[in-house]
Amino acid sequence: KKIAVLNGPNLNRLGKREPEIYGSKTLDDIADELRSAFPDVSFDFFQSNHEGALVDKFSELADSDCQGVVFNPAAYSHTSVALRDAISGAGLPVVEVHISNIHTREVFRHHSFTAEVSRGVITGLGTDGYLLATRSLLGKA
Ligand code: DQA
Repeated sequence: KKIAVLNGPNLNRLGKREPEIYGSKTLDDIADELRSAFPDVSFDFFQSNHEGALVDKFSELADSDCQGVVFNPAAYSHTSVALRDAISGAGLPVVEVHISNIHTREVFRHHSFTAEVSRGVITGLGTDGYLLATRSLLGKA
């Protein structure tokens, strides 16, 4: 089974960036946790600070044997019609993850374009959200 784990802008600095909001784990720590929790899954990890690179990744995944996508679009959640269209166009199940609870933060974070075309959203459960999203995509939730 193949699951893609995509992370958007500024998440390359996870662990160092505003740890009081996002915690101290890095993306590499999350990847290690996923690999050990789901040893039979082949993960495709991808992070980009560029909207178009994330759009390109969805079109690559659409034509692959990927079963589902765990996606933290970060700030692009709140701005990107292009990523919303990339998700609906790919025809793959997507579970959106936010480490922080976007609904208890600034009003501009309350709306997510990408959530509207995702199968589900996990927000505010810290980096465990990536594990829970993967469980769900594998049909084990
Ligand atoms: C985030 C929440 C977004 O509002 C923010 O822009 C991020 C991270 C989260 O994981 O909590 O960069 O997606």
